[in-house]
Amino acid sequence: ARTVKLAVIPGDGIGPEVVAEGLKVLSAVAPRHDLALDTTEYELGAKRWHATGETLPDSVEEELRGHDAIFLGAVGDPSVPSGVLERGLLLRLRFSFSHYVNLRPVRLYPGVTTPLADTTPDDIDMLVVREGTEGPYAGMGGVLRKGTPGEIATQDSVNTRFGVERVVRYAFEKAAARPRRKLTLVHKDNVLTFAGELWQRVVREVGEEYPQVSVDYCHVDAATMFFVTQPHRFDVVVTDNLFGDIITDLGAAVAGGIGLAASGNINPEGDFPSMFEPVHGSAPDIAGQGKADPTATILSAAIMLDHLGAADAARRVERAVAEDLRDRAKDAVERSTSRIGDDIAARVAEQG
Ligand code: NAD
Ligand code: IPM
Ligand code: MN
Repeated sequence: ARTVKLAVIPGDGIGPEVVAEGLKVLSAVAPRHDLALDTTEYELGAKRWHATGETLPDSVEEELRGHDAIFLGAVGDPSVPSGVLERGLLLRLRFSFSHYVNLRPVRLYPGVTTPLADTTPDDIDMLVVREGTEGPYAGMGGVLRKGTPGEIATQDSVNTRFGVERVVRYAFEKAAARPRRKLTLVHKDNVLTFAGELWQRVVREVGEEYPQVSVDYCHVDAATMFFVTQPHRFDVVVTDNLFGDIITDLGAAVAGGIGLAASGNINPEGDFPSMFEPVHGSAPDIAGQGKADPTATILSAAIMLDHLGAADAARRVERAVAEDLRDRAKDAVERSTSRIGDDIAARVAEQG
């Protein structure tokens, strides 16, 4: 069996609850595809920060670097100042490990209820390729005259030719491999003219290498409208870090809810471990109650298997999830987090 060295960061709130179910399903699928999981759990997040003041010690980052992949629940807690863990842990990992592709499929599974009228699974099947290392997330800017009436806060958006080109190229590759072969750039080039023009120019130039892909452009404000009114407009979407964050929560909502939205933070070259996590956060409002839907985390595990070259295992997990989702409408009572994980793991096993 091939051994996969997997670092697990359960994190905060519902993170540990959903990660446990993801690992349950991974344990069910691995032996069926000749994989052996060698997991190491890392206690990072609010508890560690309160105990030691650490978010991500350098030594831990070095250890993580030695893994094949990272499986993460969520970070962030109301008892910790906003941004300390989000920046100090999650974004630091995305930046340090060059996760320049934040891959977020938006798919309506059969049987899942969407809030959109007259909408079927054929209408919602997109792949959002969100840039993961730049934009307004870069941490550039600062505060002047703090606490005075003249206070100024700036938060600069960083867009490098190198950074834009590599994510745009990845998006074209994905678009070329999908049946519809369509790529939509989502930006705001009518206002953010410097960055917008760079993104447009890179899409135009890289697009010359992919004549089979049709290219479209949509301002981000209009895109939020079209996600709701005409989701079938979109196939592959490429966009900057912040726009991508926002439109993928919207995408999750139209495709059945945030509890189903999966993601991968990917370093395509494999120079660093990629990291897989649900799109949602730590959901402090429902933490510890067994109410969290682990499906997003389980689907993120499937994206991870795909990335690790175990496509058959990934498809098996997706099939098990699709079956579970198809039957959910028949549930008499809402199932708990662990029950959903048990059921999906059992379906993985049933497939022989
Ligand atoms: P959130 O995604 O945690 O929660 C938003 C809403 O969705 C809440 O009502 C929550 O109960 C619900 N929800 C989320 N996941 C769910 C699931 N699996 N099943 C059922 N319901 C679910 O977003 P938020 O409230 O804006 O943020 C809470 C904390 O999480 C903050 O500290 C934020 O910074 C952090 N956060 C972390 C990540 C991450 O680690 N990747 C992502 C987003 C937010
Ligand atoms: C996400 C989250 C993160 C982001 C936060 C917690 C830093 O919202 O993964 O979508 O904005 O990328
Ligand atoms: Mn988000």
